[in-house]
Amino acid sequence: SVMNQLLGMHQVEKEISQYFGIKRCIVVAGNSDNQEKVLYEFGDILTDSLDLILPEGENIIAVMGGTTMAMTAEHMGSLETEKRHNLFVPARGGIGEAMTVQANSVSAVMASKTGGHHRALYVPEQLSLETYNSLLQEPSIQEVLTLIEQSNCVVHSIGRALHMAARRKMSDDEMVMLKQNNAVAESFGYFFDEEGEVVYKIPRIGLQLKDVQKIPNVVAIAGGKTKAKAIRAYMKNAPKQTWLITDEAAANEILKGV
Ligand code: F6P
Repeated sequence: SVMNQLLGMHQVEKEISQYFGIKRCIVVAGNSDNQEKVLYEFGDILTDSLDLILPEGENIIAVMGGTTMAMTAEHMGSLETEKRHNLFVPARGGIGEAMTVQANSVSAVMASKTGGHHRALYVPEQLSLETYNSLLQEPSIQEVLTLIEQSNCVVHSIGRALHMAARRKMSDDEMVMLKQNNAVAESFGYFFDEEGEVVYKIPRIGLQLKDVQKIPNVVAIAGGKTKAKAIRAYMKNAPKQTWLITDEAAANEILKGV
């Protein structure tokens, strides 16, 4: 019955949040590997979750990019109230994604769907260190970096390490190094092994992993059976305040290994 299914799902959510020692886990029925509707539901659930956790006043929400984030953003609803205002900013600059799934685009879509505001961070890819460093001195960039530093919420996804390295066109040397270090997961431009230890980091401006630890509201969104291993690896050392929004296919696969 539907009731039993709901109770079953609830049990899975509890097991997962306990296993990772995180604040909450929400599981959507289905498999986002091949069902778009699951990604749409992530949008509803992210909206409801943020509605619950975001305090009144001015919130700054730092978001990452990727296809999960982009699809989730498209299906968000209003989060703005008379007493609560939200500003969306990209969490990190230029880590190598196609325009439509860049953090800048995701934050713009989230702002428009939720009725909030957004600020973009313009840092082109492939800059020389010299140009990069001088760009960082620009007041307009400094201003957005300051906002990112002040964020009280971060929403991000989790990807498979080698898949993400290939999508970002990382070098052969980097690929070999990731394989040698058994990298299985990627988030925020950091690569993690199965124990959730960082094995490599793409040096970029914006939020660093240690900053995320101190942010009071953290939401991770990732699903699909193919991502189970990556989700498990990253979540092992994820900040304890994390809410994980995932799907049934990933959740069942994660619990198989427990
Ligand atoms: O590149 C941004 C990012 O959020 C990565 O940190 C993450 O691994 C990836 O996107 C997830 O992408 P997708 O949702 O397309 O699997």
